[in-house]
Amino acid sequence: MRQKIVAGNWKMNNTLDEGLKLTSEIVNMVNDEVNTDVRVILAPPFVHLTQVRGLVKDSEKISLSAQNCNENDEGAFTGEISAEMLASVGVQYVILGHSERREYFDETNEQLAKKIDIALANNLKPIFCCGESLEVRENGLFKEFVSNQISDSLFHLGEEDLKKVVIAYEPIWAIGTGKTASTEQAQEMHAVIRELLAERYGADVAENISILYGGSCKPSNAPELFACKDVDGGLIGGASLKSRDFLDIIKSF
Ligand code: G3H
Repeated sequence: MRQKIVAGNWKMNNTLDEGLKLTSEIVNMVNDEVNTDVRVILAPPFVHLTQVRGLVKDSEKISLSAQNCNENDEGAFTGEISAEMLASVGVQYVILGHSERREYFDETNEQLAKKIDIALANNLKPIFCCGESLEVRENGLFKEFVSNQISDSLFHLGEEDLKKVVIAYEPIWAIGTGKTASTEQAQEMHAVIRELLAERYGADVAENISILYGGSCKPSNAPELFACKDVDGGLIGGASLKSRDFLDIIKSF
């Protein structure tokens, strides 16, 4: 049975007070309303992590994620945050390879392979993002493009490490645009990803990897997306900033 996951990526939003208020609302609602085995993950900005952890640490259902980490152990990398630092404040997951990091910070598949390694070495579970631009979707090469992102950054891993990775398929043309992938488009790509994993690691391993959908996921479309055979939950941006919307997405399985 694959782990169902709904992760909220706050991106660069919320002051500390706003983030703590949002967290408190989510903790209360999850305690009161969620009785399924879904894993809820909150990914606030770095500066919120310690205090958000204080609010979620007693929740069995909620885990904490960072939105990025550096690929080096430590040293003279001004402004950067290491995987070891994240682990030391109780973070359990780290989002790696988000399309915004790839686009605005020029992150490459090779660099992401190093980030994956250092995250795993520090017992952080990577939420590895992949997905194609509108241009790549329209030229028809999106399956190859996403497959290369995954094989270049993940396929050096042994089976035991790969099992710790969560994959998030996020078509860039659907992120923050209000334009969601159809259920057919989402299921098609998730199945391609699972088949790719099966070819490299075997069907048993592939069957147990959670693959999340991201891109304008909201309460109105989450139920049909989450009903797809190979969609195991969502990586939520905008709708994760409103507690009621986020909870309704969590309850969409
Ligand atoms: O990490 C989350 C994704 O980028 C989706 O963002 O739900 O605002 O489209 P969105």
